[in-house]
Amino acid sequence: SQQCTDIPLTMRFDCHPDNEASQTSCEERGCCWKEEVEIPERQHPFPAPRLHRPTHGPALEDLPLNVPFCYYPRDYQGYSFVNYTSEDHGYTGYLKRDTASGFFGDINVLKMDVFFETETRLRIKITDPARARWETPIPHVPDVTKPVNKTSYGFEIHEVDGAFTITRKSNGLPIFDTLDMAPLTYAEQFLQLSTSLPSEYIYGFGEHLEGLLLDTYWKRRVLWNVDEAPVVGVSAFPKLLQNNLYGSHPFYLALEPGGNAHGVFLLNSNALDVVLQPHPALTMRALGGIIDLYVFLGPTPNAVISQYTEVIGRPFLPPYWSLGYHQCRYGYGSVNRTHEVWQRTRNAGIPFDVQWNDIDYMKDNKDFTVDDVHYGGLSEFVNEVHLAGMHYVPIIDPGISAAEQPHTYPPWDEGVSLGVFIRNSSNMPFIGKVWNPVATTWPDFTHPLAAYYWGRQMMRFHNQIPIDGAWIDMNEPSNFWSGSFNGCKETKLEKPDFVPPVHGDVLFYHTLCMSARHHLGLHYNLHNLFGFTETIATNAFDDSALQIIRSKRPFIISRSTYPGQGHYGGHWTGDVYSDWFNLWQSIAGILNFNMYGIPMVGADICGFNGNTTANLCLRWMQLGAFYPFSRNHNTDDAFDQDPVALGEDVVVAARNALTQRYMLLPYLYSLFFNAHLTGEPVARPLFFQFLKDRRTYAIDTQFMWGPALMISPVLKEHVTSVQAYIPHGFWYDWYDGNLIEGEGDYMNLDAPRDKIPLLVRGGYILPVSKPANTTTDSRKNGIGVLVAPSEFGRASGEFYWDDGEAVDTVESKMYSHVQFVSGPGIVNFNCTRAGYTAPITLDYMYILNVSSNVTKVDVSGRKVHFQYDESNKVLSVSDIGKNLLKPFTVTWK
Ligand code: GLC
Repeated sequence: SQQCTDIPLTMRFDCHPDNEASQTSCEERGCCWKEEVEIPERQHPFPAPRLHRPTHGPALEDLPLNVPFCYYPRDYQGYSFVNYTSEDHGYTGYLKRDTASGFFGDINVLKMDVFFETETRLRIKITDPARARWETPIPHVPDVTKPVNKTSYGFEIHEVDGAFTITRKSNGLPIFDTLDMAPLTYAEQFLQLSTSLPSEYIYGFGEHLEGLLLDTYWKRRVLWNVDEAPVVGVSAFPKLLQNNLYGSHPFYLALEPGGNAHGVFLLNSNALDVVLQPHPALTMRALGGIIDLYVFLGPTPNAVISQYTEVIGRPFLPPYWSLGYHQCRYGYGSVNRTHEVWQRTRNAGIPFDVQWNDIDYMKDNKDFTVDDVHYGGLSEFVNEVHLAGMHYVPIIDPGISAAEQPHTYPPWDEGVSLGVFIRNSSNMPFIGKVWNPVATTWPDFTHPLAAYYWGRQMMRFHNQIPIDGAWIDMNEPSNFWSGSFNGCKETKLEKPDFVPPVHGDVLFYHTLCMSARHHLGLHYNLHNLFGFTETIATNAFDDSALQIIRSKRPFIISRSTYPGQGHYGGHWTGDVYSDWFNLWQSIAGILNFNMYGIPMVGADICGFNGNTTANLCLRWMQLGAFYPFSRNHNTDDAFDQDPVALGEDVVVAARNALTQRYMLLPYLYSLFFNAHLTGEPVARPLFFQFLKDRRTYAIDTQFMWGPALMISPVLKEHVTSVQAYIPHGFWYDWYDGNLIEGEGDYMNLDAPRDKIPLLVRGGYILPVSKPANTTTDSRKNGIGVLVAPSEFGRASGEFYWDDGEAVDTVESKMYSHVQFVSGPGIVNFNCTRAGYTAPITLDYMYILNVSSNVTKVDVSGRKVHFQYDESNKVLSVSDIGKNLLKPFTVTWK
């Protein structure tokens, strides 16, 4: 009929993603069937840089498209509004459908509540009024009962279509609009919500291995936590764009034609499928739960992330030492070998703070044990690490060996007696297998006694080995079996009619059966929350494992994540390959997690899987020096990749790059403070700072630390310069202070093998410090500032300082904060809080772009010595020795 034929390809929404679609089954649903597909030209050429070709699988742009044969007609009859009223909280409406969607268990009457929660945030909840469904229980979600009376968004419904539109009031632009898109569907195991997008510029929906800007050209993404090495494209499932990976983040950030940004978060922990198509439009499908949608109006990207983290929880403030360099590998094989590599790294003068060990320290890979044959002297070694002012973090896997003799292995005995293990349908511990020789079970971190149980194990272990943090791995949760030894039952729970193209084809692939029981519900619903709940138990804010043991700030790095993770811990991007493609991809990985409220993130420097090369590792050490979480880590069957192992060239590059990092640590720490307070990312895409400049929208070969430092790493072999995009404005070379006038174009930056290009943005003042080989030592040095004036001669900045490891310093105001403001010839240092009373002095400063010859520098009226570098126009003042906790002024003329 006419309702089918004039639908453009870009407006085809898949009516039959489940089972095998045929013309008959399609038309039975009241949908249109058309097999021939003429793929339209890309209207918007995908601008991701193509210079770095993947070495694993096909190029991102060449992956198969998802254009449906079976699609909804214009006059499709789905839900319509039957009753709607303005309520105190915003709005309540009922939706009703009389037709069948074709999906099992349509819920024919739905309730929709709209909450006008803040001026820039609204929440839409669509539920089954007759029966409670699974609702994702993440902490921190604000419970708002009163609506605000001023909103920056408009909300409107379309009665007969059951559709709604959210607009940005200031310009009337629809930012979430379900009208004429795929119809709302709400069945037992299939929820669908679809919106048009105001532009092609959309980011998020991790975790996948892909560039920063998402491709909207018929691309599909699955969110379902799985232990799978990140590769591009999967031959086993041609419809899949990329593997689903360790974490799920149903969040996106979108840019609007008017130069604003908004964000959307679907609070749903079930398996999710996301289709982007070139209308542009977006369809989200969930296998359970409810529709609980948050929309954030920004209008800047930083504001969007701030509004998002207000809902999911702000990032934790990491201990200062964790901002240093970390080193690890799987398979040091012994404490002696660990000691040797630790020592040679220190001897090489490489700034280095944290030594790690992988599962080979354990006896038979069993948690909370130590292999006394190869790791007999581990506690002595950890003491030695501590004496050197350094820290130690071991791996801890969630799987507990389940084949132990009674009374020989407390983690098993206590778990059984407390009843905290995940259960099978017969109410016995669910048995699978991870690293342990025979069998494994898993604590249920939603169990009320789980934190107590976990804390006991950590405490007992800590008495033996005084660890400083926890590296929690395999928590998707990973299972070397798929389900139990005999797999899983053939039920709709294990194998729903609609399964998105998850890696391994089934939901229980390399994990537990969906029927496994947690205190809070079925694994089917809780799967994506496992790593997150483990992080909470490990951090245990009030009931604490690490906190109580050490009475210090917890430090946790988790592989699996879900929204909210960042409040309790950080993340590393898992088992990436040691190749140039992954070097590049790691940038998008780091930037994405910063948008997900998890700024403490890094990739395994030099790559995990496969052997690295000296050339690659050299450039990776440089880039990795600018990951917020900077750790070199390697698999057990690859050769050593600590810098010393790869030769003098790599050592020099690593030492130089990490030295810059250590100089910048006061700035980095201040950014983490800001993230903790406001949620704004630490590592940011360029467009976060230059939203007016479209040419920044796809850049994922460079990135920013906060608003003021741009990092432009070398991502190719055999080159010694970088083509870097320099937005308009004043920039300064970090190394010599030379002014670079950005013209909104690409420029060649010099990048010899011992240097990573770094530019400072004019208009900012960065707190810095003299580097040292550990943060323990660099913290003893005084602070300096780098003043980088804007084209108008002005600059400002801030400095956060505390003891670096006490718990809740921000909440209990045990910190100091200094504001810097500078104009021509003057810098003001204004302490706004002096809650951390240990003395901290301003020792030195560099003022860039000082053009006239300086004759005199005064610190609060006292004349001081200075130096002026005429060629670079840098004024430097040393030996200032001023207490930063009191206000003072520096002037020059
Ligand atoms: C997983 C982790 C990896 C670790 C290995 C052994 O593959 O992702 O980092 O080295 O397990 O524990």
